[in-house]
Amino acid sequence: MMAKHAEPPPRTTLAEEMVLSDREFRRIAAMLYEDSGIHLPEGKVSLVHSRLCKRLRVLGMESFRDYVDLIASQAGLGERRAMLSALTTNHTRFFREDHHFEDLKARLIGGWVDEARRGGRVRLWSSACSSGEEPYSMALTILEALPEAARYDIRILATDIDPVILERARRGVYAAAAIEPVPARMRERWMRRTGADYTLSDEVLGLVSFRELNLMRDWPMKGRFQAIFCRNVAIYFELETQDRLWGRFAPLLTADGRLYVGHSERVGDNRYEPSGQTAYKLRSARA
Ligand SMILES: C[S@@+](CC[C@H](N)C(=O)[O-])C[C@H]1O[C@@H](n2cnc3c(N)ncnc32)[C@H](O)[C@@H]1O
Repeated sequence: MMAKHAEPPPRTTLAEEMVLSDREFRRIAAMLYEDSGIHLPEGKVSLVHSRLCKRLRVLGMESFRDYVDLIASQAGLGERRAMLSALTTNHTRFFREDHHFEDLKARLIGGWVDEARRGGRVRLWSSACSSGEEPYSMALTILEALPEAARYDIRILATDIDPVILERARRGVYAAAAIEPVPARMRERWMRRTGADYTLSDEVLGLVSFRELNLMRDWPMKGRFQAIFCRNVAIYFELETQDRLWGRFAPLLTADGRLYVGHSERVGDNRYEPSGQTAYKLRSARA
């Protein structure tokens, strides 16, 4: 049997010992909500604590109270953005919920590719694109259906609130483990090895434009989209916020367009009707 107290207690840093009071948690939650629409329930205290301890350490701060005072001030605007990056969940992967990409492929082959070949405009939007796996999966799906896509007016807009993750997405470089869900034929054709990583080819990169965009604010886009992917982000918003969001997408969808949402998200707005698993079309849609 091991002797009692044989091991010294694990060392903790100063920041880890600091307490995040209910009051400071609520101030943080209110600012995050105001900036992004993300609703942080009470149960997330320890997650917020652990993610923000890292920020306090970087800043050499010793109390959450000082940290919250900083982000509430004009001088703390930069740190407030860093807090948003620290608190958003960026988890994603290539071909996540692959039935959406099967559906997308069917719609491309069933009409949108012809539309592009006839000189039409085809636009897809990945509206919370995180580190890029989602829009690049869309691009790979396009290239499967239309390898010479660069010759046509077919493009993907990829947006996210978090400029840090967008910078990573723009590079188009992924570790071997990250590209495992990508079918081998796509890897061979549209990616190349760069050291231990894989880099997407210019054909893939050229189809996607990344922009910073907060879904809670105004959107500059005027034209319509054949497909809008809004997956695994609305889950962090309250139901009313989700409903407002689905409503704002409706006028931006083409008559034959599709809205794809995450596996645990549902679109209740009666302007839409289901079209497969967590995919929706406008109720008056012809296709
Ligand atoms: C869990 S990831 C989802 C990535 C991808 N759509 C997927 O399903 O794999 C959620 C993303 O939503 C972004 N996000 C959170 N709030 C946002 C907002 N108000 N506007 C735009 N993007 C937001 C986060 O920065 C994060 O990258």
